[in-house]
Formats: sequence, structure tokens, C-alpha cells
Amino acid sequence: MQLTEFERTMLAGEHGRAVKKAMQILTALGRIYCAERLIAVTSVQISGVSYANLGEAGLHFLSEMADGGGCARVLTTLNPAGMDIENWAALGISPEFAADQTRVLDAFERMNIITSATCTPYLIGNTPHFGEHIAWAESSAVCYANSVLGARSNREGGPSALAASLTGITPEYGYHTAANRQPHLTINVEVNLSENDDFGAFGKVIGEKLEAAGNKKVPYIRGIESASVENLKSFCASVATYGGVALFHMEGITPEAAQVVIPKDEIIITLTDIQDARQSMIDTSSADVDFVSLGCPHLSIKEIARIAELLVGKQVTKEFWITTARPMKQIADRMGYTAIIEAAGAKFAADTCCVVAPIEGRFKALATDSAKACYYAYAKNKFKTVLKPFDEVVAEALK
Ligand code: F3S
Repeated sequence: MQLTEFERTMLAGEHGRAVKKAMQILTALGRIYCAERLIAVTSVQISGVSYANLGEAGLHFLSEMADGGGCARVLTTLNPAGMDIENWAALGISPEFAADQTRVLDAFERMNIITSATCTPYLIGNTPHFGEHIAWAESSAVCYANSVLGARSNREGGPSALAASLTGITPEYGYHTAANRQPHLTINVEVNLSENDDFGAFGKVIGEKLEAAGNKKVPYIRGIESASVENLKSFCASVATYGGVALFHMEGITPEAAQVVIPKDEIIITLTDIQDARQSMIDTSSADVDFVSLGCPHLSIKEIARIAELLVGKQVTKEFWITTARPMKQIADRMGYTAIIEAAGAKFAADTCCVVAPIEGRFKALATDSAKACYYAYAKNKFKTVLKPFDEVVAEALK
């Protein structure tokens, strides 16, 4: 791999221990994927922020990088943490966990990384434009950035995203090159999709079909008449979870769809496929539900406004988490949505979510509109799940 003079000095340790370590990570990755060079990135999103996932080993790595002089060279934001940074006690998080999580956030802050703690950085200002090279971790956000925004990112891990942040570069391979952004399979959709959970079920169907088709990882999707930001973030989370998809093209909706060659290989998705996928994410009845959560991926302000509208003057009967980015919560505060939601007994869980918070075994069954949350609720926290449309999830909390 060709390195510039400046990159050689970074690798030689002339810019500090952390930059040297970062360059070792990036050049090793570049060699593995046969990249010819490193390219500049303008934005980074780092995953692996919850202490529940990092543990002491992960925290030690971050502290070493901060002690070694690591400092973000480009706009860098963070995935959700294991707790609401301001309101962790109300969510049942222990003081011991809160102390450890705070040490993680402090390490990032020392590296000048914005401790935003959200999986929807594109809703709060880390919003790359078409064609921009970026290095993002968090599978749902990578899929959104590549597909909906038309930016270019591989699915980074936490360490490689941090390395890109501290150097401002990443190896040029994968989705950074035009050739790898061409679709492999055409998906014809013969069903109307409107709700987030429809798009989540659709993501599961496509994800599983692409998994079965081996390395055909970039679908070209036809037949979707319209899709909101909220629908697309739900779809991205699902198709990334169930199929490892980091890029799709959606005719008439995503920006590169008009520029790619439409694949001849095609499959049809019917209502039955969607219904089967939906059914597979319901493994319990509403009677078992003792936990309700909306915001996987983190909620937009439009979704929070809708929750407030549905909860006004009512009382929830179950633990109900509203998960979102802190800036979104602040808008909700200003608009009076927070007051309505909290008066109804629901809880904001800003900076975190029902998957990365340390709540394993605390509840029996989760009601949500997110296919991704269904997957991890069982895989990580051993909760049963009920997938429902957004408004019905709110109704579930009121039963
Ligand atoms: Fe975001 Fe947590 Fe879902 S990180 S995509 S809300 S699992």
C-alpha cells in the first residue's frame, strides 16, 4: 500500500503513540483488503460505547489512546452508551455501572470526540453529503449513510473507526469505490409498505434472502412508492441486522439508484413474505409484555411528537422507554412533549437504548416497532418480543 510522507511519519510515531497505533490498525486493514492507498474522511461515527459491551479491556484500550495523545482530526460522534447520561438512576442503572460508563465517556471526551451517544448521528448534525468518504461504525447508520445520503463508508468496527478519527484517513476499499457500489440483485416489491414495522419486516426478508444468496450484498429495490426518514432508518437497521447489508439502492428514493446498472437477477417480495417475517418476530402474546420501547434506531422529533399526542392525559401501565439522542430530547423539552410524556409515566432514555443498556433478564417481554430490537432483545437480553406498528406499541404501554 502506498503511503504519503505524512502518513509515514504518523506510522513512525512522530505524532504520538495513539496516532501510531491508529496507523498500525489502518495499514493492517488496508493490507487485508488489498487497498492501494489511504483516503481522507470527513466524518466518523464510533460504536462500542456501552461499558456493558466494552468491559475493562475495551476501556483500557480507549484510555491508552487518550493517554497517548489521541485527538479527533475530523467530526466524530458516538453510538449510544449503556445509560442515559443525565437520568440513569430512573432507568434502574446501578451507581457502579454509571461510574464505569462515565470513565468510558471521559476517555472519548479527552480525545475531542463528541459524546453524542446516538445511533442516528445523521439526525443531529453529523450528516455527510453525497459522495463524501466517511468511516462509520454502527451497522444501521452505515447503511443509512451509504444508501440514503449517498456517502461512502465501509462497516467499520469501533477500533478502526477510532483510528480513522485520530488520523483523518481510511483505507480505500469496499464501498469507497464505485465498482463495489453496483447492485447484485433486483428486488421487486409487490406490497404496499407504510409503517416502520412493515419496513423492518421487509428488511428481514431481504436480509435473509441476500444471506442465502451468498455474496450478493447490494440490492436494487423497486416498487416502493414512498418512504419517510423514519421508515428508512427502520429498514436500514433491519436489513443490516438480518443480512449484513451496508448499501442498497431504492428506485425513485435513494440518490444513486438512477446511476447504477439494474441487475438482471431478480426476486419478488409478496405480502406473504412480509407477513411471515412479521410473524417470526412475535414470539409471545401481548399478555406477557412488561416492557415497551420505541426508538431503535433513535427516535426523530416527529416520532416523539406523535408519542406525546398519543399519551396526552393518559397513564402508562408498563415500563416504557423513549430512546433518542440528547439534542432531540432537548427539542422535545422545549416543545412541551417531554412534560406530556413524563406526566403519563413513560421515561426518556436519551443516550442509550433497550439493547445496549445493561438490562438483561429484567423484563419478560418487549413490545416494539423495530425488527432490529426484536432480534437483539432475545439474542442479548433474553426477552420475548411483540412487533407492532408504532401507534399500537404506544397503546400496548397503556393497556
Ligand atoms: Fe440504535 Fe440501539 Fe437500535 S444502538 S439501532 S437503538 S440497538
